[in-house]
Amino acid sequence: MLGICYYPEHWPEHMWQKDALEMKKLGLEFVRIGEFAWSRLESEEGIYSFEWLDRAIETLASAGLKIIMCTPTATPPKWLIDKYPSILPVDINTGNLRGFGSRRHYDFSSPDYLREALKISEVVAERYGQHSDVVGWQTDNEIACHDTCHSGSSNARQAFQKWCKQKYSDIASLNSAWGTVFWSMEYQDFSQIELPILAVTETNPAHQLAYRRFSSDQVIQFHDSMIKVIKKHAPNSWVTHNFIPMADTQTDNHALAKNLDFVSYDNYPLGRSDLFFANAPKENFKPYMRTGHPDYSSYAFDQSRGISNNNFWIMEQQPGPVNWANHNPRPEKGMVRLWSWQAFAHGADCVCFFRWRQAPFAQEQMHAGIKRNDNSPSQAWHEVKQLNAELQQSIFKAGSKVKSKVAIVTGTLFQWVTEIEIQGKSYSHLEVEFSYYSALRQLGLAVDFISTEDDLSQYDMIIAPCMPIVDQNFIDKCKNSKAHFVFGPRAGAKTKELSLVPNLGPGLLQQLIPIKVLSTETIRPDCSESLSFNDRKYESCCWREELEISAGVEILAIDEKADPIVVKYGRTHYIASLTCDHFLQDFLSSVAEKAKINTLRLPKDIRIMQRENLTFVFNYASEPQSLPTKLVDKLGHFVLGSKKLAPYDLAIIQHANE
Ligand code: GAL
Repeated sequence: MLGICYYPEHWPEHMWQKDALEMKKLGLEFVRIGEFAWSRLESEEGIYSFEWLDRAIETLASAGLKIIMCTPTATPPKWLIDKYPSILPVDINTGNLRGFGSRRHYDFSSPDYLREALKISEVVAERYGQHSDVVGWQTDNEIACHDTCHSGSSNARQAFQKWCKQKYSDIASLNSAWGTVFWSMEYQDFSQIELPILAVTETNPAHQLAYRRFSSDQVIQFHDSMIKVIKKHAPNSWVTHNFIPMADTQTDNHALAKNLDFVSYDNYPLGRSDLFFANAPKENFKPYMRTGHPDYSSYAFDQSRGISNNNFWIMEQQPGPVNWANHNPRPEKGMVRLWSWQAFAHGADCVCFFRWRQAPFAQEQMHAGIKRNDNSPSQAWHEVKQLNAELQQSIFKAGSKVKSKVAIVTGTLFQWVTEIEIQGKSYSHLEVEFSYYSALRQLGLAVDFISTEDDLSQYDMIIAPCMPIVDQNFIDKCKNSKAHFVFGPRAGAKTKELSLVPNLGPGLLQQLIPIKVLSTETIRPDCSESLSFNDRKYESCCWREELEISAGVEILAIDEKADPIVVKYGRTHYIASLTCDHFLQDFLSSVAEKAKINTLRLPKDIRIMQRENLTFVFNYASEPQSLPTKLVDKLGHFVLGSKKLAPYDLAIIQHANE
């Protein structure tokens, strides 16, 4: 259940065997290799050197390790770029070419790159597809990372015109769908259509949304073609991809995951938290500076499980300070172990660490490894050792399932809409979604992330924090579901072409709750107002909608002028503003109660998660904490840890009746 990312090409060959034996001894089972090795595999066009990789595989496998092979396509080599310069993408903010010299310098719309990437993938897959020690494959590396989903190249423009033609058939339909009569933007022919970039001021939102859909399709098409090539030569191996946080791919992640055997996620809690919480007040950030926010990693874990409706892997786990965030703190002692166990609790079947040894050279020399560059073990080494010993002893099994009665409906489409139509600077799709997720987690609830396409039948409570576009199919499923629903502001407000819905927001949702959004305002985050719910005062902020309600709609929360903020009709709730964590916890627990779902009030910085017959408890605090007796007595007996949790420690409870 453990693995490592290794770069044999970074180290003299005489070190490989000792490395391999030490990996095995540490309890590692899988080694991922090859994702950036193109220049060593093909130093000139058609001149391949695989012997070194054969020997590396042989050495690793002789030590008892299983190989995960990658396509090296995230790093096209210099000779290839020189031969086909149109591989390079164009920056959509400046119009400049993005140069060679790092990685991911390729354009998803470059026909040259698609051909060359598939060619090298095929050569690698042919060579190792049937190799008995190569058990699985990773496509590319962190696809679309470093803002590479979009390109402003002429290849992209031509492909976009083709995509528009396929989607709209005739130019009149496109003009009407986008509303191009506005500001004299009408087109006579598809060949006139530009990419919606580098314009004087904002471009047409429908045009922007089409460009996002197109760019996402390009990524998926590229990736699917690669999976096909691998599967052709390695029909008996699994194929995965190491995802970055879902919002960063700018791609429809459900569609991207569709043809993979399972999803992998690269977990960098500190680096990512530093970026995600960059604007959070110091008092909220500092306590988690060396741990990551208690809900941040699991937010990504649950989404990874969600996009494939399956267990997932961690393909890269942060082992110490990284080099790429604004600030790069060292994890508290114990956090590498805790993050790994947390991944297992949320549905991971394997955790691989990035990387074996810190590289003494090049871009990531300040990035920690399990070993330091002088080959001494770093703090993470000891934690991996402990983790392995615990995995050997505990009764935790890979393959076991996470079950949840609560779901958050999510989708890249919703993120796109809110990014395109900003309206208020303090509305961030990601922050809004995370705030609901975190409130649910603090109530001790397991949360699934689902798409509008998914089956709703297993859920008793379904929350859509931000769902500006809704289709009738989803509404029909809601009508047939037993769940209690919570919709956040903006729900149903837009058509699929990002226009206003004709019957006012929440559009089709009026079939579930007869209300109308009469107006929308956005306000500065430091100008929050009050919200009263059950005789308690909370905050309403940033985004506010004026509601008209029909007979039978119940008002649950009001503002200072007694106007409705939260309303309910049957099992459907609508929240017409952004709110605060306290309100979300109190409100969502009241909805959970109606849905007959038990909630807890977990002590601060304690999180729990159930995976089949085990409940995992995590302490993110710098203080020891005791578990509520009620919780422990109800659950069963400890198979790891005890009722008293040391700082950054965890416990596992096996359920009594199983
Ligand atoms: C990941 C990437 C790795 C390495 C790592 C450093 O995002 O896949 O190749 O760069 O970050 O943290």
